[in-house]
Amino acid sequence: MSDFLVRRDDLRRCRIAESQVATLEPGQALLRVETFGLSANNVTYAVFGETMSYWDFFPAEEGWGRVPVWGFAVVELSEAESLEPGARVYGYLPPSSQLVVTPAEADQRGFVDASPHRAPLPSAYQRYELTDADPFYRAGTEELQMVLRPLFFTSFLIDDQLADDGLTARGPIVLSSASSKTAIATAFLLAQREGVELIGLTSPRSAEFVEGLGIYDRTVTYDEIGSLESGPATYVDLSGDGALRLAVHSHYGDALAHSMVVGATHWAQLAGGESELPGPSPSFFFAPDRVTKRSRDWGAAQLNLSAADAWHPFCEWTDGWLEVVHGRGFEAVQSAYLDVLEGRVEPRLAHVLSI
Ligand SMILES: NC(=O)c1ccc[n+]([C@@H]2O[C@H](COP(=O)([O-])OP(=O)(O)OC[C@H]3O[C@@H](n4cnc5c(N)ncnc54)[C@H](OP(=O)(O)O)[C@@H]3O)[C@@H](O)[C@H]2O)c1
Repeated sequence: MSDFLVRRDDLRRCRIAESQVATLEPGQALLRVETFGLSANNVTYAVFGETMSYWDFFPAEEGWGRVPVWGFAVVELSEAESLEPGARVYGYLPPSSQLVVTPAEADQRGFVDASPHRAPLPSAYQRYELTDADPFYRAGTEELQMVLRPLFFTSFLIDDQLADDGLTARGPIVLSSASSKTAIATAFLLAQREGVELIGLTSPRSAEFVEGLGIYDRTVTYDEIGSLESGPATYVDLSGDGALRLAVHSHYGDALAHSMVVGATHWAQLAGGESELPGPSPSFFFAPDRVTKRSRDWGAAQLNLSAADAWHPFCEWTDGWLEVVHGRGFEAVQSAYLDVLEGRVEPRLAHVLSI
């Protein structure tokens, strides 16, 4: 078994580790990890590996971690009654060649991994969907599912929350790291709502790309915040950048209706204590919490179906600009990981990898 490991106290250090696959116990199954996507979202899992327990999903040797990824796997061996070898699933995986799971709550749609070490972790990351019964699944969009699906699901929930809270009618929605796939998917959904104004904040190098997408009403670079009209607005922060957050809050002041912290793409410039910020206190948006709320309100199956309905048109739209870059083996995974970590990936590109 091969694992791609990252040093937990120095995310720039990585290596491959080889080990024997564990012998399965009754009730367990062995998944062979086929392919997975990699973007800034996975780096954020590593950045918050300790504080948000992301390292705990797929434990590794002392001091090292396996950065969680989303992708496809095939059941190689099974000692679990509910799961047949050969079944193919989509879900949360380690960047490894294999994963041992303990399937539970199995039905025709999939199962959850009930391995004891995962029990305290958010349920949104525990489910494995069988491709045969998955409303998101279409054979022709597998690569997009690996790269974009978890990001799109978050965007679906952000769009829903902003509308639910009446924020889509209280001035523009201003998104930072507007070139990120999560911001793009959020803007794509918000743009379908009547009368919503969208402002994409981005770096000078990504401005032309963001402008070209045609979904933001205006593209503004980080050094041009002063050019924004004052008045009510909502800030959706995907950068996590402290100086940027201060600039946005200072610009809008008390007129800022809401400040939603979604991501941390600028992980080297992370915001610290927020006590000095003008306007509302930033509130953290955690997709699994919103999944829990909407699963209660609508039922988990309906939430999934509604998101899947919105997903397919988004997939079709990305065909016009997104290019998938493939990589196989340790060198390719390491190179892609370091490029994503250092922000060297052009926003029109997306990595699909295999150990
Ligand atoms: N809260 C939640 O539940 C949740 C769920 C899903 C995703 N997210 C978050 O959303 C964010 C976006 O994820 P993604 O996968 O969509 O991103 P992505 O597509 O890989 O984003 C690429 C963009 O992020 C910025 N960036 C990335 N790395 C950078 C670096 N090292 N230095 C400076 N800028 C960098 C650049 O945008 P600019 O030049 O435009 O700044 C770059 O074009 C992540 O932080 C992720 O964790 C949060």
